[in-house]
Amino acid sequence: MKRPTLSGLLLLLLTYASAQTPVAVGPVSSVSVDNQTVRVSTSNARAEISAYGPGIIRVRVVPGNTLGPYFSYAVTGTPETTRVKVTSSGADVRIVTDSLQVCVSKQPFAVTFLTPSGDTINTDEPGLGTSWIGSDITTYKHLQEGERFVGLGEKTGDLDRRGSGYTNWNRDVYGYQVTEDPLYSSIPFYIGIHHALTYGIFFDNSYETRFNFGASNNRFSSFGARGGEMSYYFIYHTGVPGILRDYTYLTGRMPLPPLWSLGYQQNRYSYFPDTEVIRIAQTLREKRIPSDGVTLDILYMDAYKLFTWNKERFPDPAGMIHRLHDLRFHLTTIVDPGIKVEKGYAAYESGLSSGVFLRYPDGTNYTAKVWPGWCHFPDFTSSKGRSWWSSQIKGLSDQGIEGIWNDMNEISTWGQQVPDNVLYDFDGHPTTTLQGHNVYALEMVRSSYDGASASGKRPFILTRSGFAGLQRYSAIWTGDNRSEENHFFTGVRMLASLGLSGVAFTGMDVGGFTGNPTPNLFARWMETGAFIPYYRNHTALNTRSSEPWTYGEDVLDISRNYVGLRYRLLPYLYSTFYTASQDGVPVLRSLAIDWPFDGQVYSPAYENQYLFGPSLLVAPVGADAAFASVYLPSGRWYSLYTDSVLSGSFVTPLALDRLPVYVRGGAIIPMQSLVQSTSEAPSDTLWIHVYNGPAPGAFTYYEDDGATFAYRNGAFYKREIRFDPAARTITLDAPEGSLASKFRYMQLVLHGFGGLQQIIADGTALVARDTTYAILPPTARVNAQADDAPPAPEFCRVKVVTIGNDHRQIKLGY
Ligand code: GLC
Repeated sequence: MKRPTLSGLLLLLLTYASAQTPVAVGPVSSVSVDNQTVRVSTSNARAEISAYGPGIIRVRVVPGNTLGPYFSYAVTGTPETTRVKVTSSGADVRIVTDSLQVCVSKQPFAVTFLTPSGDTINTDEPGLGTSWIGSDITTYKHLQEGERFVGLGEKTGDLDRRGSGYTNWNRDVYGYQVTEDPLYSSIPFYIGIHHALTYGIFFDNSYETRFNFGASNNRFSSFGARGGEMSYYFIYHTGVPGILRDYTYLTGRMPLPPLWSLGYQQNRYSYFPDTEVIRIAQTLREKRIPSDGVTLDILYMDAYKLFTWNKERFPDPAGMIHRLHDLRFHLTTIVDPGIKVEKGYAAYESGLSSGVFLRYPDGTNYTAKVWPGWCHFPDFTSSKGRSWWSSQIKGLSDQGIEGIWNDMNEISTWGQQVPDNVLYDFDGHPTTTLQGHNVYALEMVRSSYDGASASGKRPFILTRSGFAGLQRYSAIWTGDNRSEENHFFTGVRMLASLGLSGVAFTGMDVGGFTGNPTPNLFARWMETGAFIPYYRNHTALNTRSSEPWTYGEDVLDISRNYVGLRYRLLPYLYSTFYTASQDGVPVLRSLAIDWPFDGQVYSPAYENQYLFGPSLLVAPVGADAAFASVYLPSGRWYSLYTDSVLSGSFVTPLALDRLPVYVRGGAIIPMQSLVQSTSEAPSDTLWIHVYNGPAPGAFTYYEDDGATFAYRNGAFYKREIRFDPAARTITLDAPEGSLASKFRYMQLVLHGFGGLQQIIADGTALVARDTTYAILPPTARVNAQADDAPPAPEFCRVKVVTIGNDHRQIKLGY
């Protein structure tokens, strides 16, 4: 063996020493400007500050003296041509756009973002800034007085993350704790709120990342990674919706899912044989629980081998799928990335010969144990791996499977660790697990989406794991929760947090995955599920049956009522999905989106409340609670059930069959008749509920075929509806798109318009009828005293008028 030289030893020592001491970016030595980009050099680093749009700035800091090309799986948005003015002085460089100013200090390098009028939105913490220790790189931001932090994707904890620290490293965490971190997916994006200012920071780094929001430190918030470069996007907007729009401009938006995926889905681990699957579907129909989907979990496969059927349990998959379609059900099947190592097994042989599996540096395939035993795993970060997987998934779609549920894709293995030295192609930028791990699932769902949409129909894709941008391909659910009340509440907050992080289509296992919920908890979960974007009931292998009829008549009634309400709300829900696909504002909305500066929104008593779509405020409540505290942010609100007018905070008595839900004054909520599945035609009338209030309301009403991509070529029906309380008018803009509405008539259902005398629709006087309206039919009330007759439902007193489909301008006389 060669003896080390003295200089070699010295270098080693120096490297070791520098790996232990933080190295800062240092003073700026030169500056160059290239259109919308400013580049600076320091003795230790290169940095680049580019305007991506008037309110979006990308900052890159790289140790050393080379700033290589940028590569990202998360970001698909390209820089917009933006008006930028750059000035440089001895002390700093100023970059001014129409929306913000960036000040890059030179001694030492530090970045400050300011409003056009000079208020500081966000600034590097003096003395800390950006630094690295070995390959670990972190940016420290000054903690502003009263600053709150929301978002960061699928994270447990409070809505306001101030005082907490988090890690992003995708992990399979069966039956996780309500304080557990990290979980299955990583979205390194958060929103900061202080002094009437809101901003977003997206740290585009797929290594293990860490965030500190003043976690036991009173000086800074920080974000850092175990490797890679410091690349982050700073987004400034005067409102959270604007930040979400810009963030989803960068990382993409949800494509419109098929309408059936918005319906109720019945799952369990694992329905078999085929006759049981049909029995479940038939029972849902017999019990009149509207529904659209059943799901097959891993036991449909032969020995867990992907793309196979267990021939004994499912002798005739085509026949079963046909029968399900007759019953108006859509089938989703689970897929895991692990391909069993078994000679003669088709997927294994073809994957092997196509060379698509992840490898070790010595060229052997990475092998690990999961459901099927020893497996290889496709490298989804190579186009070869993705197209191989897409063709396998297309095979499932060709059989009539319309939903692809991507599971275990963290990657999960029984050892819970993928060795660091496994290689990932990273689309021509070869790397290891350290950088490839967190984007593995993102690229898996990308190829599932591509394979499943080859049929020409919109697929439903679901994933457990993911990275920023997953919304471009997939819905996400929050994995293996527990049938416990604190999981129910934590789950709701996790969905709100995912919505604050660009993911519009989200769900959790209704009823809880591990364990058995009490009937009351199950009832509350089913009620709340009706107001969750992806509404699926799922439970684990050795738990009690969790279909709604297994909890007795009362719970069945409650479930039927709330699932039915969701189906009647489909025009509202589908339109909300459409808007989310356009502007990135999610379907399930934290109250921090519309009321970021209202402290009550973050208080422990109210942090679980959220908006479902723009206008329905949902207050999830405990299973056995007799009373709940509710807070309604500024404005006029109505009880969904009685139309009583409410505001502020109050305590409300609870009945098990009524989930507290409130409607915002100014709301416009289109509804249809009850159907048993999304493929059943509703009646010919669209009811447009308008709630009076001091603030104007607007709603984009949207329809299309709900199944294909024809909407991309104009085959839709879209109409803006506006309520102007000052002018006392309701306006329906001319419909856009080439499709006729599926409704022949429209009825206005006017809530809170007590003094209404007259309605004039485009010059013609119409007569409004006074009537009562029950949002939920009566149930055998669980809390009712011993009285045989079911209690009367709560009624709203409304005015109803049929206006026909062609009217535009409705003048309300009151
Ligand atoms: C994982 C999934 C769970 C599924 C089970 C069996 O635990 O998270 O939803 O039922 O695997 O496939």
